[in-house]
Amino acid sequence: MEEKILICDDEEGMRLYLSKLLRNWNYQVECFSEPEKLLQSMVDNDNPGSLLLLDIKMAQLDGIEALRRIKQLQPSLPVLMMTGHGTIESAVEAMKLGAYDYLTKPFPQEKLLAMVHHCLEAKQLREENSILKNELSQRRVTEAPIFQSSSFGDVYQMALDVADSDAAILIQGESGTGKELIASSIHYTSSRAEQPFLTINCAALSEALLESQMFGHTKGAFTGAVQAQKGLLEEADGGTLFLDEIGELSPSLQAKLLRVLQFGELLPVGSTKPRQVDVRFLAATNKSLEQEVACGNFRDDLFYRINVITLPLPALRDRKEDVGLLARHFLAKMALKLRYPLPDIEPAVMSAMENYHWPGNVRELENVIARCTILSRGKPISVDLLPFDIEPSRTVSKSNNAPFSLREAERVQVLRALEQTEWNKSRAAQLLGTSRKTLDRKIKEYHLTPDTTTE
Ligand SMILES: Nc1ncnc2c1ncn2[C@@H]1O[C@H](COP(=O)(O)OP(=O)(O)OP(=O)(O)O)[C@@H](O)[C@H]1O
Ligand SMILES: [Mg+2]
Repeated sequence: MEEKILICDDEEGMRLYLSKLLRNWNYQVECFSEPEKLLQSMVDNDNPGSLLLLDIKMAQLDGIEALRRIKQLQPSLPVLMMTGHGTIESAVEAMKLGAYDYLTKPFPQEKLLAMVHHCLEAKQLREENSILKNELSQRRVTEAPIFQSSSFGDVYQMALDVADSDAAILIQGESGTGKELIASSIHYTSSRAEQPFLTINCAALSEALLESQMFGHTKGAFTGAVQAQKGLLEEADGGTLFLDEIGELSPSLQAKLLRVLQFGELLPVGSTKPRQVDVRFLAATNKSLEQEVACGNFRDDLFYRINVITLPLPALRDRKEDVGLLARHFLAKMALKLRYPLPDIEPAVMSAMENYHWPGNVRELENVIARCTILSRGKPISVDLLPFDIEPSRTVSKSNNAPFSLREAERVQVLRALEQTEWNKSRAAQLLGTSRKTLDRKIKEYHLTPDTTTE
């Protein structure tokens, strides 16, 4: 049977070139000039193709965003990203989102053929494997966290101990410390494991959108509400809802959420009929909610309900013994994915990493390792591959700093992201793993200007 390869690129010349080549090699080809058209065909069509070649930079919709959506629709479709010059960070991002590999334009024909061949072969192997394993449960199991420090171990143990209760848990920690990972560990070790585990990011959406996402809406509740829609609270019935960045919830949504916690009752937008739900709540925040309560930004009654148990995740800089272990873990994962032999890490790199301040915590470490692995192309990881600001000479003064408060750490982290991106706020928000809206608020809150220094 001929394999069908999908191509999505907004450059007509590239589409013609690729389809001609691939047809010559006896593949079937289907081209898309825009990601939206590709996504639509995936929704309409049950068997879209065996492999997708996806351009990383397109005018209509960024290839990374397209990849994110494609992976939701067709998680098993292998995707080869095509990148231009200077898009190594995007390639890293794409690999982390599940792209199979990437090609840098312009690429020789043989390289394309080899990669396509390899990718299809791997897909076939996976399918055979999954037939063998079809007896195994389909449910998603989270990876267990990697650590050797007792500070992380104690919190993790506590999370496992309380997993099976129905208590609401507040997971507190700086950005990238593993809050979401802990939340999913709790859900998947609880008796609700077979039920849904859903996440809602309270900072990502406008208040009106967030409300209809959480509570659902009736038909005609507002312009554009052409049909009734269940909210995530209802979708999560019987399971767990993870409220990420709960500190960003507006006062009116705080009040609505409190009702759900108190009475297990919710009111969809536009409806007058309350509905009963049975949901276990986990919440996360990277700010001090106590402080938010003290300032009057967060209701104390909701705080007490959501904070039956607190799990404070330690920052990576306070558990240096985990840095090497995590670095090797991410390196092995990335090398496997890129099919490189496992590269060595030079000792100077290890000590630079142990001394670094890690404002973005484990997520930042994962990004640094992904970047180094891609750039090293299988050779040992050397200091020159580290991003500029984690060179040892610059980390000395940081490591001598007195312990940071959560707020201070956040201020420094926001500032460093802004410095690193030369105050490009969209990129800084991306680096911090937060929304533009939240970043703007932080800039105001900490009175940051391009002249502010971290000292
Ligand atoms: N102990 C760990 N072992 C392995 N991977 C980890 C560990 N901690 C975090 N990670 C990984 O680091 C990344 C960031 O973790 P996670 O998303 O859970 O952090 P977070 O605290 O929710 O961050 P944010 O505040 O930015 O949302 C994820 O890819 C996660 O899998
Ligand atoms: Mg998170």
